[in-house]
Amino acid sequence: MTQTETSERMAAKLAKRLYIKSYGCQMNVYDSARMAELLAALGFIVTETADDADLVILNTCHIRERAAEKVYSELGQIRRMKGAKAERGGRMIVAVAGCVAQAEGAEIIQRAPCVDLVVGPQSYHRLPELLARVSETHGAGVIDTSFPVEPKFDFLPEARARRGIAAFLTVQEGCDKFCSFCVVPYTRGAEYSRPVEQVVTEARNLVRGGAREITLLGQNVNAYHGEGPDGREWRLGELIRELAELTGLDRIRYTTSHPRDVDDELVAAHRDVPQLMPFLHLPVQSGSDRVLAAMNRRHTVADYWRTVERLRSARPDLALSTDLIVGHPGESGEDFRATMDLVDKVRFAQAFSFKYSPRPGTPAASAVYQVADDVKSQRLTELQLLLAGQQRDFNEACIGRILPVLLEKPGRHKEQLVGRSPYLQSVHIAASADRIGDIVPALIKAASANSLSGSLSEAVVE
Ligand code: 5AD
Ligand code: SF4
Repeated sequence: MTQTETSERMAAKLAKRLYIKSYGCQMNVYDSARMAELLAALGFIVTETADDADLVILNTCHIRERAAEKVYSELGQIRRMKGAKAERGGRMIVAVAGCVAQAEGAEIIQRAPCVDLVVGPQSYHRLPELLARVSETHGAGVIDTSFPVEPKFDFLPEARARRGIAAFLTVQEGCDKFCSFCVVPYTRGAEYSRPVEQVVTEARNLVRGGAREITLLGQNVNAYHGEGPDGREWRLGELIRELAELTGLDRIRYTTSHPRDVDDELVAAHRDVPQLMPFLHLPVQSGSDRVLAAMNRRHTVADYWRTVERLRSARPDLALSTDLIVGHPGESGEDFRATMDLVDKVRFAQAFSFKYSPRPGTPAASAVYQVADDVKSQRLTELQLLLAGQQRDFNEACIGRILPVLLEKPGRHKEQLVGRSPYLQSVHIAASADRIGDIVPALIKAASANSLSGSLSEAVVE
């Protein structure tokens, strides 16, 4: 054994183990990666299982129903692991982070005393200090769910070149829109945009680490208004143009956007920037003006349709995805039909649809006219049938086309890889593992509800 090998083994032995589980959206996945980077400086290495971990972090999501319950049931298991570790003479620190931490605060430690630390999404840059306090308090529990004035991004270590061909990069956080049903403005706080230079530096590092695709993340990403190098506020379209200058960055996406913030500059970026993929997630939530007003969405059905038309005339091959909620308080049968009509008219390539579920503390939760659960279920079934048909039609229309596919990882079968089309469809292709990271032309031969399959094609990509 060489000396380096010996010291690496010793370091691994001395290292503390960190287990992080992410729930919910891609922003949580991103936050978990940043927490791991921050904690690496304290000697933590990431482990795949919780039972032998020195620090367990559950990075939680609170957007929809039963999120908190899921966390409590996971904590039940973790409590047993913590007990078993203590019997072996070890110590496990348990932390709950993310939006459930923000929303529940001290309640978490009351209901699950195995939790040592509760940390909200805006204060995890303080983890080193908070962990030190956990050691000092000997089990009393530490809580930080404040919205610090300092932006956490300024206090995190510069993002490392995280490995990964398709990477995520948070550029904006929080939301000032206050839709009636949504907890985000309460859990993630006020809107904040990272400065352009910080974003570009991180993107460059990701590309150095092998990323060919970057998805810009934000709860309301197209409200982006970060400080530019010229001192002006830059909007998302301008940021995308700047990122498109990075050599090696072949694909750019962004999510999640709000229909109200699709400005001309963003539409022009869809027209002019070939790296910006022709697929956009643009939540509409409802197809009824009455419900949209009750939801405080600040746009009408006609506004949404106009935005779709502007985008489609800038980029005719643009495919759309959306979020829809059925059974928002006050939604009548007629309102629901209006949603079906809008979906019929727009034709979505993909969509996420949900039954409205009251989030404590949001205005819609205390509305008088709640829709009965069986009505919500019926509406959801009907809507999902329509959406599934549209997704199938979209996928089937790809058969016979040659699409550029970014090969990301091995598939389930031998000698098979899975990649993404420009429209974010999973594509299965027979190819050897050394092609991972390549963008290849794929002749699409078959389509299922959720994915495509094809073969490598020698033809020039469309
Ligand atoms: N009930 C149901 N769906 C919700 N969403 C957000 N809050 C709720 C809620 N209280 C959905 C919205 C949003 C997506 C991320 O989750 O459609 O766009
Ligand atoms: Fe929530 Fe999005 Fe509405 Fe903001 S814009 S309140 S994140 S649904």
